[in-house]
Amino acid sequence: MHDFKFKNGELYCESVKVSTIAKKAGTPFYLYSHHTLVDHFTKIKKAFAGVRPLICFAMKSNDNMAVLKTLVNQGAGFDIVSVGELKKALMVGADPQKIVFASVGKTEEEIKDAIRANILFFNVESLPELEEINRIAGSLKKKPKVALRINPDVEAATHAKIATGTLKNKFGIDLRTSRRLMKARATFPHVRFSGVHVHIGSQIITSAPFIKAVKRAIDFVDILRKDGVDLEFLDIGGGLGIIYKDEKPQTAQDFADAILPYLKKTGLKIVMEPGRFIAGNAGIFVTKALYLKDNGVRKFLIVDGGMNDLVRPSMYGAYHEIVPLKKTGTRKVKMDVVGPICESGDFFAKDRMLPVLKKGDLLAIMSAGAYGYVMSSNYNVRGRVPEVMVKGNKYAVTKPRETFNDLVRGEKIPKFI
Ligand code: LLP
Repeated sequence: MHDFKFKNGELYCESVKVSTIAKKAGTPFYLYSHHTLVDHFTKIKKAFAGVRPLICFAMKSNDNMAVLKTLVNQGAGFDIVSVGELKKALMVGADPQKIVFASVGKTEEEIKDAIRANILFFNVESLPELEEINRIAGSLKKKPKVALRINPDVEAATHAKIATGTLKNKFGIDLRTSRRLMKARATFPHVRFSGVHVHIGSQIITSAPFIKAVKRAIDFVDILRKDGVDLEFLDIGGGLGIIYKDEKPQTAQDFADAILPYLKKTGLKIVMEPGRFIAGNAGIFVTKALYLKDNGVRKFLIVDGGMNDLVRPSMYGAYHEIVPLKKTGTRKVKMDVVGPICESGDFFAKDRMLPVLKKGDLLAIMSAGAYGYVMSSNYNVRGRVPEVMVKGNKYAVTKPRETFNDLVRGEKIPKFI
């Protein structure tokens, strides 16, 4: 499942002791396992081999270039949501014909850059966006491919902030409008209507909503066929859940077994956009205990990482397992693990039973490879932490810690003050 394992009471990433890296990189930092990334990518590839999908890693979940390159080397494409992601994908050598671009708010510049880069297709999220892509494509004398991101109106049974598949959400185009647009495709002469896209949310651990959404997309493709619309792609999005605590998510194989027969019947090229499934358990966040504080009511373990580094617990109440890098005694104490940020929401765990720890002890916050570093900020004038990758017995800092100069670069005090 992942390559962070204890050997002789010490946590290792593949063949490297995590505490050795901590000495080199300082804390806090993110650490990724090359082997886990490849393993998770391969699991999806194998499970869906029957339709030979194009696997576009959702780079919003982790855009570290070493991670991206690892996946490019495996044949991955990318699901992007901004021109920044486009540029990073191209920088690591991604094939533009393996890039798909979703986002409800693509700007004119972004649309231009993506057309010029010759990406595989746009996942279009509204009529005005379609009009804009058509207009821009016309002015560039190009004819890019578009897929309509349908909103299948399916509840994803996940955290409200990461559910996207119902009409309460801003994503996608309702089915009635989608059908109308497909039928009226001749009025958008500068784009090629090539596909249907569906993505109903993230960290979905049961297969029912997925299957419902994908089936709805497939039924829709059938309706379009009857309308005389011939498509090339069916993009089934991402969203596969992973184990953070004791979830029993469907495996890639379970999902594939349930859905492959339907996918095959469409005869379309299948595109997938997994993010968390590939990166989530391939990364950890390492932080150091600074102080122990007992106010008579609660015990707090104050660490050097904060919500600016890893926001998921604060933002979604997400559970992340926490383990000391060194196994100590068996006695456990209930405590809150909190950061140094001036907010009560700055915590990694509440009421967590952890071994008795002391100043300087190192802790790993597990399953932090997806939506970890990418969601970090400079809140409280804190530099972003380094990202490190391990492959076998080798490791390297792939992105350095931000310095104070990085944080104030370009900032000016106007003369009128
Ligand atoms: N495709 C589209 C169009 C998406 O919007 C997303 C994620 C994905 C694919 C990848 O989904 P995944 O396979 O990773 O579940 N920050 C939140 C998650 C936000 C997900 C955004 N969209 C979190 O930390 O849980």
